[in-house]
Amino acid sequence: MSKLIEKINQLKKEKNAIILAHSYQRPEIYDVADAIGDSLELCQKAANTNASIIVFCGVHFMAESACLLNPDKKVIIPHIDAGCAMADMVEAEDLKQFKAKHPGAVVVCYVNSSAAVKAESDICCTSANAVKIVRGLEEYEIIFIPDKNLAAYVQNQVPDKKIIPWRGFCPIHHSLTKQYIEEIRGRHPEAKIIAHPECRPEVLALADHITSTTGMIEAARRDPAEEFFILTECGMTERLARELPDKKFYGLCNMCFDMKKNTIESVLKCLQEEKEEVKVDKSIAEKAKKTLDRMLELS
Ligand code: 13P
Ligand code: SF4
Repeated sequence: MSKLIEKINQLKKEKNAIILAHSYQRPEIYDVADAIGDSLELCQKAANTNASIIVFCGVHFMAESACLLNPDKKVIIPHIDAGCAMADMVEAEDLKQFKAKHPGAVVVCYVNSSAAVKAESDICCTSANAVKIVRGLEEYEIIFIPDKNLAAYVQNQVPDKKIIPWRGFCPIHHSLTKQYIEEIRGRHPEAKIIAHPECRPEVLALADHITSTTGMIEAARRDPAEEFFILTECGMTERLARELPDKKFYGLCNMCFDMKKNTIESVLKCLQEEKEEVKVDKSIAEKAKKTLDRMLELS
């Protein structure tokens, strides 16, 4: 393993490359990452790097966002087919038709979406800033795509707006039911619950903290409790354990297989061959970038 890490670090230097890794990546990828974070942090890093190559260890929409923010840089991904099931639940054409039914509404698009969908939207958001972005908008009616659970959470936090949700969801988070959480919490009754806002509303109602993956670290750090149930993709428990070794984190066996396609071996191959380049069609890139820029300005 240390040989692989050495080779990756050497190549990063030679090629002026950086590795951005999402919180759900395998722990061995954390060891070669220049930044680990949630979608917002990684967007911010991608927008501010001087590197010539960005290796994105995450799923396709994340690498695509890095590419939109850095049109002159090379963005590569270890597995070009690492997608997001939720992002695939909305297509630009369907959104166009939906918009026509709600002519007065502004479109807020969760970053878990394709560049084509972003190009049809007015502003992006992530799980870390969705409430802030929606609260800051002048418009009353807001089409929120694609996650219906995040939309419901935002509606709950910003009751003076009318949120019109899309029907998408993350299969990993949506599979967690209230009944299951009530059952497992009995095993560690002292543990506080930290949940991702992609969970169902009735699951979020059981949570002590609702936040993005990076937000979970801050929430657990500040909370005097020593044990936590983490309701999100299972990789997050490992990240929390590394960041806060004095606390205990209980995760669940719900894995995002697309996130886990990346391995340390495929990161090395990706850097050596630079084959899996992420590109965005020029016809949509400019409009899609605007939705991301608008979000970053307000974050
Ligand atoms: P975060 O932005 O909170 O890291 O979430 C991204 C994601 O895909 C959650 O499933
Ligand atoms: Fe998409 Fe869900 Fe995987 Fe996040 S965990 S990348 S929302 S499928």
